[in-house]
Amino acid sequence: MKKFLLSLALLPLMAIAGNVKSPNGNIELKFTVDNTGRPVYEMTYKGRDVIKPSHLGLELAKDRHSSKWTNETDLMDGFTIGKEEISTFDETWQPVWGETKNIRNHYNELAVTLNQPSAKRQMIIRFRVYDDGIGFRYEFPQQKELNYFLIEEERTEFAMAGDHTAWWLPGDYDTQEQVTQETKLSGIRARFNEAVNWYNSSVAVFSETGVQTSLQMKSDDGLYINIHEAACLDYATMHLELVDAQTKHLTQELKGFTNAYTPNPAPSRFPLPKPFTFVSHLTPDATGLKGAMQTPCETPWRTVMVSDDARDMLSNNLILNLNEPCKIEDTSWIHPTKYCGVWWEMIVGKSSWNYTDDYPSIKLDQIDWNSVKPNGRHGANNEKVKRYIDFAAKNGLDEVLVEGWNVGWEDWANLWKRDVFDFVTPYPDFDIKMLNDYARSKGVKILMHHETSSSTQNYERHIKEAYELMNKYGYDAVKTGYVGDIIPRGDHHYSQSMNNHYLYVIKEAAKHHIMVNSHEATRPTGICRTWPNLVGGESARGTEYEAFGGSNPDHTCILPFTRLQGGPMDYTPGIFETQLKNWSDNTSWARITIAGSLALYLTMYSPLQMAADLPENYEKYDDAFQFIRDVACDWDESIYLEAEPADYITVARKAKGTNNWFIGGKCDENGHKSTIKLDFLDKGRKYDCTIYADAKNAHYEHNPKAYVITKKVVTAKDVLKLTEAPGGGFAVSLIAK
Ligand code: NOJ
Ligand code: CA
Repeated sequence: MKKFLLSLALLPLMAIAGNVKSPNGNIELKFTVDNTGRPVYEMTYKGRDVIKPSHLGLELAKDRHSSKWTNETDLMDGFTIGKEEISTFDETWQPVWGETKNIRNHYNELAVTLNQPSAKRQMIIRFRVYDDGIGFRYEFPQQKELNYFLIEEERTEFAMAGDHTAWWLPGDYDTQEQVTQETKLSGIRARFNEAVNWYNSSVAVFSETGVQTSLQMKSDDGLYINIHEAACLDYATMHLELVDAQTKHLTQELKGFTNAYTPNPAPSRFPLPKPFTFVSHLTPDATGLKGAMQTPCETPWRTVMVSDDARDMLSNNLILNLNEPCKIEDTSWIHPTKYCGVWWEMIVGKSSWNYTDDYPSIKLDQIDWNSVKPNGRHGANNEKVKRYIDFAAKNGLDEVLVEGWNVGWEDWANLWKRDVFDFVTPYPDFDIKMLNDYARSKGVKILMHHETSSSTQNYERHIKEAYELMNKYGYDAVKTGYVGDIIPRGDHHYSQSMNNHYLYVIKEAAKHHIMVNSHEATRPTGICRTWPNLVGGESARGTEYEAFGGSNPDHTCILPFTRLQGGPMDYTPGIFETQLKNWSDNTSWARITIAGSLALYLTMYSPLQMAADLPENYEKYDDAFQFIRDVACDWDESIYLEAEPADYITVARKAKGTNNWFIGGKCDENGHKSTIKLDFLDKGRKYDCTIYADAKNAHYEHNPKAYVITKKVVTAKDVLKLTEAPGGGFAVSLIAK
């Protein structure tokens, strides 16, 4: 580990500009304060504008009780530059699991101490400038005049240099299970209405130009720019609000988009920035405020990644690097996991989570489960779970997720019911001891499921007992869920208090040696570096939507640029039977070919990978399923060979601790041709190469199951030429001889 302070410059009290370049000089960051004392930064890449001069600051709220303890003068203007410190950092660290064995964290840092003489306060803005992006955050040292404060809004600006193409989701305080939109920045407002997923179980949009992060953009002259955040801890999740030609003031009232539980956000007291500027917009709490802070504290890092090569957006480690090192001392119990589950059959309506259909409502403490009439469709029953365990054991899968094992599914979602589950009582047909013993005897584990229905206090009250039960029976991973609006009412999935809840769950789980895969939780910001037991999450439109009307064929060619920036996604790939129904008996179909489904195990990086389809569907295509049996989910090396947002991604990965490589290529509805030089293989070594490719006439819509498997022996001198069908892809395994 190398760590050194390059120079330390103490500068006099005046508004001079700080200036720092990235280690290779490609990125330059400039900082100053303007003539009203507002902090301003700008950023260039190879001399081209990425962020034009943009203001930084926070508006504070008046506390209704007293201003004795809270200081409510805005942290927006009236600043002078106190001190500027420039330093360099360079270390290489090893993640517990990941895309590569080693990650280099190399940046130049500028830390500016700002004085606000009128309020006798100080604030630090710290910039870290990497070769492929920047991160910056606000830090609030403990001080006499700044101990507690309430955030009305953070006003971090990101002024874009042009009308870029953007891949965006509507800004929403509760969900990102939406279809990504591709428009120019100037086209966001017109598209907004149709972009909202009103069918989701919890929706709260706030502005017709509000978008989520991670936001991927491309400029007309070929710069890839991505805005997100890192280490969102004890703080609300950030959205972005675009100022466009029609914006009169930030967060105008939404006509026809009223959210019953969200008070209207306060208008800014400061001048509107120029069009094509994004302004941060935090998720409110139940009172409409954005954060309650106690110094010393800091905001998450605001990140801007940039490159003229799209592949750098995917190999970039900026967000992980901006998080703290691992806080778990013994990580030996954390492991990459391939799993199947009693799950898809509920999604496609073949069985149910609930045990009985006979009650209009359930009170957990008033029901004798042994005397209720079963509906005959309950999925999580002994016989079926054993079948899935056998299937996992036979195919080398590590775990079996079982949903609907615990009582309460009869009336679980969106009913404002507080005591919806207890997380410890199995239905009468799920013998928890027998099934765990059976699984263990086959070398498999059962993966726990805790749907909270967003009743967060209920989950926190039961969590200790629930995790002790898991320890007792040998479960080492839990899939949590947050379907529906947050209970207590008024809070949102991405608020400061909810972000604290998810972190509490991760920490409690770590104490019990439990890995966490959180569905409907806040979008990740790289905290899996600090808490590597957070092995996955949803926070986007997952494979389940293929049964709810479908996702576009390019969906998985966008997610790695956006949702995956903050951490792996439990996308639940591997659907072979693409003609689907859902539990409401509506028909649907998966917009992907079988070869494309195999590619996702490479292109959608995650240490937790599901083989989501039904065992009987895998048995029908056992030769293709061989790839899912073989593919690794932890890597020593990853090389992005080709990438273009929403078009195609091709990646080669070397399986951890082996000489074996796997390559995956996934494309959009237009198809794609790849020429892959195998020059990354060991020179002189031979590899057994198996190619799973779309057949000539394959097509995601009318011929998704047409694939061809080819075997040959290759060396580093070989070149593979592969054709991906519309909505298709390919997967290659290269096993060292
Ligand atoms: C939504 C999750 O995304 C899905 O995977 C799960 O089966 C249901 N909630 C029930 O918890
Ligand atoms: Ca979901």
